[in-house]
Amino acid sequence: MAEIRPKQNVVIETSEAQIAVHWREEEYYYPPAKFVGQANLTDPDILERFSEKNFPECFREYADLLSWDRYWDTTLDTSDPPFWKWFVGGKINASYNCVDRHLAKYKNKAALIFVPEPESEAPVSVTYRELYVRVNEFAALLRDFCGLKSGDRVTIHMPMVPELPITMLACARLGVIHSVVFGGFSGEACGMRVADSQSHVLITMDGYYRNGKLLDHKAAAEIALSTAKHEGQTVDKVLVWRRHAGQNASATPFVKGRDFFVDELLPNYAGELVAPVPMDAEAPLFLMYTSGSTGKPKGCQHRTGGYLAYVTGTSKYIQDIHPEDVYWCMADIGWITGHSYIVYGPLALAATSVIYEGVPTYPDAGRVWRIAERLDVNIFHTSPTAIRMLRKSGHDEPTKYNYHFKHMTTVGEPIEPEVWRWYYETVGKREAVIVDTWWQTENGGFLCSTKPALDPMKPGSAGPGVPGIYPVIYDENNQEVTAGSGKAGNICIRNPWPGIMQTIWGDHDRFVTQYYAKYCKNRSSKDWHDWPYFASDGAVLAADGYFRILGRVDDVINVAGHRLGTKEIESACLTVPEVAEAAVVPVADEIKGRVPEVYIALKPGVQASQEIVDKVNKVIETMIGKIARPKHIHIVSDMPKTRSGKLMRRVLAALSNNMKTGDITTLANPDVVESIRELVQGKEVVALTDGPEDLKRFGTEE
Ligand code: WTA
Repeated sequence: MAEIRPKQNVVIETSEAQIAVHWREEEYYYPPAKFVGQANLTDPDILERFSEKNFPECFREYADLLSWDRYWDTTLDTSDPPFWKWFVGGKINASYNCVDRHLAKYKNKAALIFVPEPESEAPVSVTYRELYVRVNEFAALLRDFCGLKSGDRVTIHMPMVPELPITMLACARLGVIHSVVFGGFSGEACGMRVADSQSHVLITMDGYYRNGKLLDHKAAAEIALSTAKHEGQTVDKVLVWRRHAGQNASATPFVKGRDFFVDELLPNYAGELVAPVPMDAEAPLFLMYTSGSTGKPKGCQHRTGGYLAYVTGTSKYIQDIHPEDVYWCMADIGWITGHSYIVYGPLALAATSVIYEGVPTYPDAGRVWRIAERLDVNIFHTSPTAIRMLRKSGHDEPTKYNYHFKHMTTVGEPIEPEVWRWYYETVGKREAVIVDTWWQTENGGFLCSTKPALDPMKPGSAGPGVPGIYPVIYDENNQEVTAGSGKAGNICIRNPWPGIMQTIWGDHDRFVTQYYAKYCKNRSSKDWHDWPYFASDGAVLAADGYFRILGRVDDVINVAGHRLGTKEIESACLTVPEVAEAAVVPVADEIKGRVPEVYIALKPGVQASQEIVDKVNKVIETMIGKIARPKHIHIVSDMPKTRSGKLMRRVLAALSNNMKTGDITTLANPDVVESIRELVQGKEVVALTDGPEDLKRFGTEE
């Protein structure tokens, strides 16, 4: 990524289109022979098999990795673009595919290994047999105690514990649509999602360990319920898993008739079996809310058959998962990466999937590598933020531990080539192949990545489209940006694929406008070629066909690999009575990639004070969560605005990042820029740069 590259590489005074040309092309690294020798995907014919000529039938290969209750009739139905339908007529159950079908061969093998944060608590293995028993019992509870049936929605607000995938798989067994909300999100954020999905049941946990403390998590449920109620949604039952059965980690009052401790109910369902419900391939499996360019998070609705086929195929070929592997993805299950590549993909392949409860650097920088050594993890999956953090807190730590990875993944943000090399040399000990996988919540699974045994790696580049994905870069004039031109543009996917979301829950129009309207060639066409998917990421395509992702082109800030909408944070700020206006911009951060920075203008007559800053901080934390905490909150006398009154976030982003502000003479109040500059950068004039691509583009569309 441009901003953390050595100073001499920062290009001054070049146009946006030229920037990429000046980036040094990185050297290739080749997959280690030992890895290639055992890889699932060594047949170069895969490209031919998944070529456009064989589309869409090529995806049968992925669907055939699953066990179907009824085989499908039509692989891809394009009759109602862009609402594609996959494996139409097929019936399948995701829980059966991730659990039951492995019993014959693997019942005594660990499906999950839970690593509690306190090192005094030993790791807990859940075998496939045990997973089967627990999923069945919990499914019986959901069905008989909560009255849940297929098509109902349930919101799950839980930390990283094995009970989370157990809950998801129990829902899937019944065809109940789960909506998992990241455990670190606030009660209010959870409540908004409860309301949007119209959930009557909330499943939560009393507490969990984070940074050495047992946190009260159930407190968030109280807020979630009142928020949901305010939005018109009543929750009848709150199921509370307990971190330690029989003990209560939450100080919040237990509401009789509404709250239930799962460990107290489960004995009533001991040994019960629930037949997996054969679901239509197109039945929704889950919702996953994510931030977009408007204030309200959107519920990405994922289908059962296509999604499961896609994550299973990519887990097998790109993650190179074999049943013998011990696979550890450090993402949180509350994000899409965790859904696809901790739960559904690995379990569909009968792998052993590791779940770690806590903070990677707790109690020290060696924790991750001790876990890897102890469990003999051989596939490791994490984000650039975690890699940067581990590198900073313990540069040589990995060398002290005797673990051996064959495969490593990076996902969620662009990775700087320097950081990539540390990952490769120090973490991977030059023994592991690396895949840099680019994709999004909306996509279900990987879109761009090298094929681990077949393609050389190039630090900082995700690589070509994965099998069956045909990416393209378009410019703002709908023209294709050619490979090797060095120009940046908007990355799109030309074709549908089985992992793509079905729609936005309850908002079909927004689905069309957000992802397809921009580059649709003909709105009445039923030919998929006319409907490229617009990803909202900038990218550059090198001559070798590798994509380098530059970051979001919309109002989304990618904080430590997590998407936050600037509008969501701004609306939170505006709930503070003293605040008249708020603008949120991304600022580059050494560890987290990007973090939000907040500018506020106060109502007339209100004096600036630390108290107001504290209030704004607090409200962001309560309405969204700690991950949205701003780097700074600046109280300004006025916001830079155009003559028509539009707030110029682009100018603020430039000031926050020591970038050139560009032309400000057209502003209604150009003088305010210098006063804000002084406030943010200090009296002395600092050296300015062009800044990284995503920050340069930020706010240009307002
Ligand atoms: C960014 C996470 C560069 C991108 C799976 C995308 C990446 C957003 C990469 C989606 C990568 C994801 N290189 N950028 N390998 N992977 N991104 O929905 O901006 O949480 O649009 O899905 O993360 O984030 P989301």
